[in-house]
Amino acid sequence: SLFTTVSHPTQDLIPHRRPRKGVIVGAGQVGMACAYSLLIQNVFDEMVIVDVNTEKLEGEVMDLNHGLPFVQPTIIRSGTLADGEDADIVIITAGAKQKPGESRLELVQRNLEIFKGLIPQVVKYCSKAILLIVTNPVDIMTYVSLKLSGLPNSSVIGSGTVLDTARFRYLLAEKFQLDSRSLHAYIIGEHGDSEVPVWSKVNISGMQLFQEDANEEKLADMDRIKPIFEQVKNAAYEVIQRKGATSYAIGLGVTQIVQSILRNQNRLLTVSSLIHGFEGIDDVCLSLPAVVNRQGVSRTLNLTLTPTEKEKLQHSARVLRQTIEKLDL
Ligand code: LAC
Repeated sequence: SLFTTVSHPTQDLIPHRRPRKGVIVGAGQVGMACAYSLLIQNVFDEMVIVDVNTEKLEGEVMDLNHGLPFVQPTIIRSGTLADGEDADIVIITAGAKQKPGESRLELVQRNLEIFKGLIPQVVKYCSKAILLIVTNPVDIMTYVSLKLSGLPNSSVIGSGTVLDTARFRYLLAEKFQLDSRSLHAYIIGEHGDSEVPVWSKVNISGMQLFQEDANEEKLADMDRIKPIFEQVKNAAYEVIQRKGATSYAIGLGVTQIVQSILRNQNRLLTVSSLIHGFEGIDDVCLSLPAVVNRQGVSRTLNLTLTPTEKEKLQHSARVLRQTIEKLDL
C-alpha cells in the first residue's frame, strides 16, 4: 500500500483550533485583490468567495487554487453566503465602482439597493461574523450595513481612510527619504473628497514635523508639502483614470485590518466606525484612529485636533450626514 501507519493516535495532542474563515462578497478587482493578498499572507484557513457572476467567480477561484503549491495551503472555494455560517469575517466589496471622474458619493443609490438585499442575507447566514465593508462610498455603506444588520456598533466597520492614511505616509516618507513605516500620519473623516489631513500629528519618532496649529497656509515649507495632501485626496481618481480601478493597495490595507481582527492585535487603524459624540459629531460612520481587535472596533482615539482640523472634520461629518439623511433606508 502507499503508506505505512506509524501509530494510531488515540487523541489529538494539539487542541483543535477553530479554522480562521473568511467570506469575500464580490469577485471584482477589489474583491480579488483582497483574496490574493490574504492568500499570500496566509491569513485565513478557508476563504469562500461569493459573486452573482458565477462564471467569472469560478475562473477566479480556479486561478487562485492553481497557485496553491506556491503558498501555504488555504481552502479557497466559490460559494454562497450559506457557506459562511461559521465565518469570522465577511468582507463586502460588491457594488458599482467609480467611473473616471465620478465621486464615491455618486455610487450611493446603486449600492444601497444592492445592500438592502445583501445585508439581511449576510446576517442570516454569517451570524457570528464581523462585517468589514469596502464598497464605496464606504462610510455610508458602513452606516447602512450597521442599520440594516442590527449588529452591535463594534462589529460593523469599514476600510475607511486606512488606504488614504497609507498614501499620506508613503508620500510624506518619500519627501523625507524615510521608510513609510517610520513616519506616522493620519487621514481622518470621509474616505472621499472631504477627508482631513491631521498635519499636527505627523511625526517621526514622536517628533512633530509641522507646527502646532498646522493650518496648511501657515506651514513653513508648504509649497513642498501641500501637493502631498492633494495627491492623497485625488489618488483614486488618478489611478482609476489610468487603469480603471484601484485594487492592490486596498487589498493590502484590508489584509492589515483582517489580521488585526483575527489575531486580536489592537492595532490603531483609521477604519470607519460609528462615531458618538466626538467633537460634536454623532450618528455617522467616518474614520478616526480606532483600536481594531476580535470585537471589530472596540475604541476610537479622542485625537486632540487643531481648530482647523476640528472644523474640517465637522465639515466632513456634515457631508456624510447630508447623504445619510437623503437615503430611503
Ligand atoms: C480608493 C478606493 C478603495 O481610494 O476608494 O482607492
